[in-house]
Order: sequence, then structure tokens, then C-alpha cells
Amino acid sequence: RFKAVIFDLDGVITDTAHYHFLAWQRMAERQGVRFDHAFNEQLKGIDRMGSLELILAAAGRQYTAPEKLALADSKNLHYQELITGMTAADLLPGAVAALDAVRAAGLRIGLASVSKNAFTVLDRLGIRAKFDYVVDAALIARGKPDPEIFLKAASELGVAPADCLGVEDAVAGVAAIKAAGMFALGIGLPQVLTQADRVIAGLDQFDLAMLQRLPVSLQN
Ligand code: G6P
Ligand code: MG
Repeated sequence: RFKAVIFDLDGVITDTAHYHFLAWQRMAERQGVRFDHAFNEQLKGIDRMGSLELILAAAGRQYTAPEKLALADSKNLHYQELITGMTAADLLPGAVAALDAVRAAGLRIGLASVSKNAFTVLDRLGIRAKFDYVVDAALIARGKPDPEIFLKAASELGVAPADCLGVEDAVAGVAAIKAAGMFALGIGLPQVLTQADRVIAGLDQFDLAMLQRLPVSLQN
């Protein structure tokens, strides 16, 4: 059945989704934009400039390109401050066990995060070596929900998309996995991740043996 598992990072392996939320919230509110968890849900999985555009669209005025870059940089600096103290203690429950189960079963392991901070986060968590291939977000032209990042991971892993399981906490990320022709395992709430083939609350419920028994006809 599955020959590779491709994981998202933020909100799946570690709770950086919360730090992104805090950093966007401060930036948004300084621009007079109310920013709550519902707004944040739309930004999950969306790249930095794409997220900024969505926030500024609610600001009621036009921003120049240099202003936008300055705002994106200030958000990113704040985010980087928030993640300075990250360690292996910030791995979400079940994350390492899930990676080790995939490895033990002989499947390939990829990481598909559009975050330009992904390598830093992986190093702080001490898990970079657990991946056969980590997509460099700087090389990706189109963010999620475009399938590009998942297709890039699959091709670098040498596995056909139909043989890949994608794991995502974001609506845009699940859409990207489905557009890539992969099986989508959602992390979160089924009523939010409606496009996912299966949804679990967290990687502590990741059951590779069960997923490997799912009939191929359930896919795509
Ligand atoms: C991930 C997160 C988003 C974040 C994006 C870009 O997809 O889910 O919330 O905005 O990465 O992250 P970056 O670290 O490059 O600003
Ligand atoms: Mg995510």
C-alpha cells in the first residue's frame, strides 16, 4: 500500500502553529485588523506573503510593496523570537513514535512545509535526520493549496503520488495533498478538514498498520 509518508510540520509535528498565530495577531492588530482563531484557520499552511495579503485585505487601505515586506519581516522576527527556546520537549505527543513507525515499516519519509523556518525548527526539535527528504520552501513557486510541494517531495523520494500518504493540519494543506493525488490524513477536527480521507486528533493516534490495511479503492 503506502510507500511513503509526507508530513507537514507546523501543527502536525510541533505546535509552531500557535507561535505563527501569536506573531500574525500582533502584526494584524497593529494594522487595526482584528485577528482571532477563525481568521488564523484560513492562514494555516499558507505561505508568509500569502498570509500577509489576506490580513492586509481586511485593513481597509493599500500598502506599497516595501511596506508589505517590512511587515512580513517584522512578523518573521517576532516568530523567530518566539521559537528561540524550542527544544525536543516541543514535539507534539506521538510525533517521534509516528516517524519511527514509518521508518520501521520501511517506508520513505518526507517533509512538506512551506515555512522558510522549517530547517531551523527541525534542528531545534532534533529530528532533521529522521527525514529522507525535506522540501526547501525557498524552491517552491506556488504555496498550498497548490500540490507543488507534495509532488516535489514524492518525486525526490522516488515514490508515485498515488503511493503517498500526506499528513496535514491545515485546510489548504489537505487540499494540496488531494490535488497531488495522494491519500490525506488530517490532524484536527473532521468538521474543519472536510476534504481529508481520514482525520485523527493528533499523531498520538497515528496507526500505520491500520492505514496500510485501507483498501486502495478508498483513495483519491
Ligand atoms: C506554515 C504555517 C503557516 C506559515 C507558513 C510560512 O505553512 O502553517 O502558518 O505562515 O508556514 O512560514 P514562514 O516561517 O516561512 O513564515
Ligand atoms: Mg500545518
